[in-house]
Amino acid sequence: PVRAAVFPVAGRGTRFLPATKASPKEMLPIVDKPLIQYAVEEAVAAGATKLVFVTGASKRAIEDHFDTDAELEQALADAGKLELLDTIRGIVPKDVSCVYIRQGQPLGLGHAVLCARPAVGDEPFFVHLADDLIKGERGCLAQMAGEYSEHGGSVIAVETVPRENTSSYGIVAVDEADRNRITQIVEKPAPEDAPSNSAVVGRYLLAPEIFAKLEKTGRGAGGEIQLTDGIADLLGESPVYAYSFDGVRFDCGSKLGYLQATVAFGLEHPDTGERFREYLRGTVCD
Ligand code: UTP
Repeated sequence: PVRAAVFPVAGRGTRFLPATKASPKEMLPIVDKPLIQYAVEEAVAAGATKLVFVTGASKRAIEDHFDTDAELEQALADAGKLELLDTIRGIVPKDVSCVYIRQGQPLGLGHAVLCARPAVGDEPFFVHLADDLIKGERGCLAQMAGEYSEHGGSVIAVETVPRENTSSYGIVAVDEADRNRITQIVEKPAPEDAPSNSAVVGRYLLAPEIFAKLEKTGRGAGGEIQLTDGIADLLGESPVYAYSFDGVRFDCGSKLGYLQATVAFGLEHPDTGERFREYLRGTVCD
């Protein structure tokens, strides 16, 4: 089983300024839950019992969110709001532990993952980017764990993107005859240089050998230490497979993706769904 899940949450979230000036992007709510809670729920559903948050400046709210708040619990109990009390108490299941590691400087996603090494140890682990929210019957990480149990190695979630968008993603080439084993991975290639239009999304199941690679990875695209470059270095040594997940992904690090996710989740929420649908029908759609 894959026990550790790493949540790199140390990015600056510049695309969401000014909302992200003093509070983390990962605390933006979709209806009534912050993005990072959706992330944790997905990892726990995939079997993770150790949650490793790689945090940076202005990220205290994330620690507070997953910490016990005795005062709030007492206030809810006194007010007889027992359902809410259960919700608050159940944010992190009892058998799951949280570890916080500080990334001194946001040097890039690869560097953030490397910061998690002391907490992960010599085991395979998940990496989950909370701003990629995936909606589906079964969590994406659980699907990837199923895939991993069949062939080991590392597994990376991918989806097809329009070719003109390749410069926003890590792009992979695969050997279809060998279970979609990745043969090449490039960070943010221009459309004319992209080896395909199969793009990496924010879910990874990585073999611990990645840490040694990341230690040697220099600055790449955008002057950052890229996880993609570490993975590229891993390819020759240890198999990495591309996995096309079931589900719909919302890029909640962008304003449009965030609004789309809010609509999709709002329409299905038990408290709001029906009235929200009526509202959209009556006011937004003709
Ligand atoms: P993004 O590329 O989305 O960067 O990082 P960002 O800073 O969060 O957002 P923008 O682009 O400025 O709006 C991808 C993921 O990697 C994490 C981010 O928190 C995000 O989950 N990250 C990135 C780190 O943890 N540390 C870094 O140094 C860089």
